[in-house]
Amino acid sequence: MKNEKAFYVTTPIYYVNAPPHIGHAYSTIVADVQRRFHAMRGEQTFFLTGTDEHGDKIVQAAHAKGMSPKEYVDHISAIFRETWPLLGIEYDRFIRTTDPEHVTTVQRILALVHEKGEIAFREYEGLYCFGCERFYMERELKDGRCPDHGTEPVRLKERNYFFLMSRYQDWLIDHIRSHPGFITPERYRNEVLSFLKEPLDDLCISRPTTRLTWGIPLPFDTNFVTYVWFDALINYLTGIGWPTHSDFERFWGAAEHVIAKDILKPHAIYWPTMLKAIGLEPYRSLHVHGYWQIKEQKMSKSLGNVIRPAELLEKFGAEAVRYCLMREMAFGLDASYSEDAFRTRINADLANDLGNLVSRTLSMQEKYFKGVIPTPESLDSELQKACMALIPLWELDMEEFQTHKALQRVWEVIGLANRIIDYSAPWNLAKDETRQGELKNLMYSLLETLRIVSILIWPVMPQAAQRIQDAIGLAGKQDFRLNLAREWGLLCPSTGCIRIPSLFPRLEAAGSDCSRGDRPVAPTSGLTVGKDNAASKGERPVAPTSAASQKTKEIKEMDTEDKGNLITIDEFRRVDLRVAEIRNAERIPKADRLLKLTVVCPEERTIVAGIAEHFAPEELIGKKIIVVANLQPTKLRGITSEGMLLAAKDENGLLTLTTIHNPDIAPGARIG
Ligand code: MSP
Repeated sequence: MKNEKAFYVTTPIYYVNAPPHIGHAYSTIVADVQRRFHAMRGEQTFFLTGTDEHGDKIVQAAHAKGMSPKEYVDHISAIFRETWPLLGIEYDRFIRTTDPEHVTTVQRILALVHEKGEIAFREYEGLYCFGCERFYMERELKDGRCPDHGTEPVRLKERNYFFLMSRYQDWLIDHIRSHPGFITPERYRNEVLSFLKEPLDDLCISRPTTRLTWGIPLPFDTNFVTYVWFDALINYLTGIGWPTHSDFERFWGAAEHVIAKDILKPHAIYWPTMLKAIGLEPYRSLHVHGYWQIKEQKMSKSLGNVIRPAELLEKFGAEAVRYCLMREMAFGLDASYSEDAFRTRINADLANDLGNLVSRTLSMQEKYFKGVIPTPESLDSELQKACMALIPLWELDMEEFQTHKALQRVWEVIGLANRIIDYSAPWNLAKDETRQGELKNLMYSLLETLRIVSILIWPVMPQAAQRIQDAIGLAGKQDFRLNLAREWGLLCPSTGCIRIPSLFPRLEAAGSDCSRGDRPVAPTSGLTVGKDNAASKGERPVAPTSAASQKTKEIKEMDTEDKGNLITIDEFRRVDLRVAEIRNAERIPKADRLLKLTVVCPEERTIVAGIAEHFAPEELIGKKIIVVANLQPTKLRGITSEGMLLAAKDENGLLTLTTIHNPDIAPGARIG
């Protein structure tokens, strides 16, 4: 089934417990860049992404929003689906684990594996982490706590179904050893092999419906739903129509998964063994990248440092975001996001190096040849050599997912071209009748360099690439096949070049007025266009940022809502809750709802409480209640109230005081 002329790339399917962030965007852009890279080599490609929608986490997130799981997953999944095109990402299919087709596929596979005797029913007692939705072995814990969540797992005893994964340990080790490109980069391959030195356990693949119902029922026992990972991994088969669709036939042998290091184990261990049990060949490669951090810290909602793609789009535009993400992270290692670093990168690489090369080449073309591509006297040039040497190296880097290196190489040639302009001084050549041949050769080689650069940047910046080709006489004939970059001299002399607006205008420093949406240069969904350029003359519409802004707004609202429900531990600690004993209670004349309480906590103080309709004064005396002791005093009916008592109100509006029944607790005891 192996098909070297095909390429099937997948991203993880993302949990819908929050909207997408920079990490999700990165993986999805990597997949898009790879899809484009393989397409430009003439391969048939298929790109799958989507959302993972079952499990405890999702149910909890839905409840926190007061929504049903289905309503909730529909909402967040749509945000993921709509965000990707704004970043220039073109997937072939967006899969959801709640799609009926996927549910059927998972059940068919479960039935198949069960029939083959690869699933056993066992009683199991183990340490369960609700955050990870899985059992842990003692040895996997860090100081007795979940290595991911830092919480103590709970001991659970359950009867459950197990996939007999341990049977495949030796086969998996052999497979990894005999297929060097199976897990890349090398460090992750080594990590998996070293994990496999320990005995592999069987994998618990069910959850009783008494604990979780938001999942796919096991076809052979509906008292259980499928464990999220067994459900989620199968998306890679559903996505191409396992078992009979022609896409499955065409693409399964060419499957390459992109993930980050957090989900290495399910992809490197569960998934290949599941495939083996189904009777399928494992995927071709697993490509594992590192984590985006924010100022060396993990991104997290509680730290309030989550970077959303919509925010990046608004600040920089899609093409620059794609470039910076690909250029700033060495695939496999962690990277740190900083707005300043992105601005510096955009100004240096895009505005200065590439942008200048394009604009000065075009303006010289205009000036010296009225925009018509000259016929060179010779095709040999320093730039020709540099470009031809670049292609195979660039291709190798791209094959290895080392996009940052591939880009670096392209920028070396861009730098060289700029230097050649500087030292050849075409403005002097133009003045000298005897050197017109040199000028033609130079200009032609610069235009050819731009053509090759446009092809090589196309996977990362497709719109910029198109605009460059427009400019160098290829409008309406743009072509990004890699084979066209392998040849020098394909630009037709006598074709007309056109001036285009500056590709990437410089960005102002963060925090300056110009960086806040009122800047003169509107970041477009693709390229950025200055106000004094052709766009304002109607040559090309400036793509509005409204879609990105709308998304940013929507997502910000969701984030704020989330944070609105949460306080930090420090905020909670500021509330001084104390046990107080009621010594006296009396009505306040002409105030039907208020009682004046004298409490001890441990000093005596007065609290005016709106509880007269619920309690007779005499029944309160002697009770130990809970009060907020550090509330700012306030005057009610002329009486200073120095605190507030806690009470619960039921749906009929009836109040119950929170009382303490332990006689040993002294008034004034702190609660926390
Ligand atoms: N639903 C599972 C995946 C199932 S795939 C069959 C899941 N979802 S997730 O929403 O948590 O996404 C994890 C993936 O998001 C990572 O593997 C990576 O692709 C991306 N990233 C999440 N945070 C990231 C960073 N901070 N940095 C880079 N990528 C990150 O796990």
